[in-house]
Amino acid sequence: MKERKGFIFDLDGVLVDTAKYHYLAWKRLAEELGFSFTEEQNERLKGVSRMRSLDILLEIGNIKASESEKNEWAARKNEWYVEYISNMDASHILPGATEFLVEAKELGKRLAIGSASKNAMIILKNTGLFPYFDAVIDGNKVTKAKPDPEVFLLAAEELEVDPTLCVVFEDSEAGIEAAKRAGMAAVGIGSKEHLSKADIVIPSLKGASCKELVKSL
Ligand code: BG6
Ligand code: MG
Repeated sequence: MKERKGFIFDLDGVLVDTAKYHYLAWKRLAEELGFSFTEEQNERLKGVSRMRSLDILLEIGNIKASESEKNEWAARKNEWYVEYISNMDASHILPGATEFLVEAKELGKRLAIGSASKNAMIILKNTGLFPYFDAVIDGNKVTKAKPDPEVFLLAAEELEVDPTLCVVFEDSEAGIEAAKRAGMAAVGIGSKEHLSKADIVIPSLKGASCKELVKSL
């Protein structure tokens, strides 16, 4: 068994309950554009960058758009999303997440955020989660979106931990693929059906023992 020293967490849907706000904002845009958008379809957008998410949404709605329309729509979605998260506080931290981070710290792990979101920093600050992390890699620091492994490789580099000794916690298919492409272990947070490529899948961090979990990787 390898000793996993670097723990890299996706933010939206793993540590904080923001995935629903992304969904609500995209759904609102879809409805404005005249089509409906389901939660099942939304699985394809999880973990994916803002512009790539918009492309997938427009493909679902069968809508062709110019670059300027796309920029305008992405900005509109983000305005709604930022409005939804503006009142965020520690109550939006997902059950078990804080306890898990505390245990990981006590075990001497190095912790990083590996998120596609350009809004990650505001969420970390509003929820009080920021001080737990030794590195934060977000959508402002990467050039390639998940499933590209760039975000996780940069996180490992900042943590100064070899990628093969890192473990990623992710709720998206794209993120699990990115972790595996980075040569890391992947813990899926959610359903086995959506995250079949993960090394282990748990429904949430609630009740999860960090020590026990890494033993099985
Ligand atoms: C990811 C979310 O964390 O960040 C995606 O899972 C989102 O749904 C992506 O599209 C980009 O977020 P933002 O905040 O930069 O639009
Ligand atoms: Mg996520």
